[in-house]
Amino acid sequence: MSKDEIHYDITHISFLEKLWGDGYMSPGGKKEINRLLNGLDLTEKKILDVGCGAGGITVSLVKDYGAKEVIGVDVEEDVVNSAIKRVVKNRLKDNIEILLIGKSNLPFEDNCFDIVFSKDSFVHIPDKEKIFSQVFKVLKPGGFFVFSDWLISHDQKPSKEMEYYLKLEDLGFGMGSPSLYHNALKKSGFVSIKKNNRNKWYKEEARKELQILSGPARKSYEEITSNNFIEDQIKTWKAMIRVLDTGEHCPHHFLAQKPEN
Ligand SMILES: C[S@@+](CC[C@H](N)C(=O)[O-])C[C@H]1O[C@@H](n2cnc3c(N)ncnc32)[C@H](O)[C@@H]1O
Repeated sequence: MSKDEIHYDITHISFLEKLWGDGYMSPGGKKEINRLLNGLDLTEKKILDVGCGAGGITVSLVKDYGAKEVIGVDVEEDVVNSAIKRVVKNRLKDNIEILLIGKSNLPFEDNCFDIVFSKDSFVHIPDKEKIFSQVFKVLKPGGFFVFSDWLISHDQKPSKEMEYYLKLEDLGFGMGSPSLYHNALKKSGFVSIKKNNRNKWYKEEARKELQILSGPARKSYEEITSNNFIEDQIKTWKAMIRVLDTGEHCPHHFLAQKPEN
C-alpha cells in the first residue's frame, strides 16, 4: 500500500480512539452500536466485521453480544495490528480472527456467515454494488447484513460546502445517497431493507466533539498528535458541522436480509 493510500496511521488511530473510545474509530461508542444492532440476536453467531479498524467493536460483538466467532477484516496494516493486539489482550484468540485483506474482495467461501456487520467503512469503497454483492455471497441464506455508514443526501453534484469538507477530510471518501445504497442492496439480492437516518443525532454529537477538541482538553490531544494536526481536525469538524446542519451529510443505519432460498 503506497503512503498516499494510508488513511489511518498510528497517530490518526490514537486521535480517534481518544475521541471515540478505546478501539473505536467511528463516533458513538457502545451506545451507537446498540442502536445499530437494535435487538438483533448475535448469540452463538458467526459474524464478519468489514473494516474492523482497531477492533473495539469486533471484541464487543463477542464480549457484550455473545457472538461465537467473529472475523474482522481491514485493508490497513496499522489498524489490523492494533486490532490483533486488542484481541490478544482480551484473550479472545479462540473467538476472533483479524485479517489484512486486499481492497477488492472478501476472501471467504459462499454462505458461511450468519451476520455481516460493518461500522462506517463502506464510505471508503466507491463501488457499493460490488461490495454488497460480495457480502450477499458470503452470507448464509436468511442471514442479516447490518451496517452504519456516512452518506450524502442526494445524487447530484456535492454542494460547495460538501466539496470543501471532503477535501479537508482527505479520507478517500466515496459517499453515496440513501437511494443509491438501497438500490445497490436490492440489486445484490437483499430483501426487507430498512434504513435509519442518523443525521439528527450526529449533528448534536459532532458539536460536542468540536467542543472537546477546541476546549481545555485540546492540549492533551496535541500531546498525542501535534498542534497542526488538531488545528486541521478543528477545521474539518467545523466544515463537517456545516454539511450536517443542511442534512447533506447524513450517516445512516441499514439492515437487510438474504432471502432463505
Ligand atoms: C472509520 S474507520 C471504522 C473502523 C471500525 N469499524 C470502527 O467503527 O471503529 C473505517 C475503516 O474501514 C477500513 N477500510 C477502508 N477501505 C476498506 C476496504 N476496501 N475493505 C475493508 N475495510 C476498509 C479502514 O482501513 C478503516 O479501518
